Amino acid sequence: MTTHVPLSQLIRDASRQQHSDAENSTFIARLMKGELNLAAYTRYFANLSWLYSALENQSVTGTPFPSSENLWDDRLERSDSIRSDLEHLGLTDPDSISPTPAMREYVDHINSLSGRADFRLVAHHYTRYLGDLSGGQAIAALVARHYGATEDQLSFYRFDQIPDLVRFKESYRSILDGLQLTPGERKALVDEVKLAFTFNQRVFEDLRGTEDRASKA
Ligand code: HEM
Repeated sequence: MTTHVPLSQLIRDASRQQHSDAENSTFIARLMKGELNLAAYTRYFANLSWLYSALENQSVTGTPFPSSENLWDDRLERSDSIRSDLEHLGLTDPDSISPTPAMREYVDHINSLSGRADFRLVAHHYTRYLGDLSGGQAIAALVARHYGATEDQLSFYRFDQIPDLVRFKESYRSILDGLQLTPGERKALVDEVKLAFTFNQRVFEDLRGTEDRASKA
């Protein structure tokens, strides 16, 4: 009998370095240190609105592939909170901030997937939502502290319908571990998680460029 490393562990290990690179990316590091401002956060967040719109559209589309049914939990859905936060950040027309080139590619890639029937969508769902449930909480606290963002501007990070985030993440990981995938699909899923991290990193690089240009203007 072959023993498998649980999928949740496999993808966490495979993305560990990229996770650390994301945390240490110039844009995120400066954001967290209080070296940017609320306008920079708003630009970042408006970019996320493009991403979640694509991700959440895919996450309600099609029949879930067998064994993935419980993964697509609508308590994770962020679209309403994004819209509300953007309004409170003074952006009534989110489309007025165009996605950066890397975000456009990220969104195009997500749109190219075949909804919940496509196991690769799991990688994008995992990378964003587990991130929001984890480091996202630290981002919210620091954006409030450094830039005076109000609760109304940070509802994205509050998962009011999920009473215990730690337990939720545990149960999410056990759903991952129970996914019925062939060895080839497991490998492709790991690669897709790495791709998701790469897209996020490239967006941070774009945003860093924007900040550099804004500070020189
Ligand atoms: C300020 C930046 C960040 C901080 C401080 C941070 C912090 C953390 C921490 C402490 C955990 C572990 C939580 C736990 O074990 O339950 C975690 C997990 C995670 N983070 Fe981040 N993170 C950051 C940025 C990101 C970014 C940019 C992404 C990707 C877009 C990301 C994706 C993830 C994922 C997918 C997990 C779940 C790992 C797993 O348990 O499988 N994080 N993060």
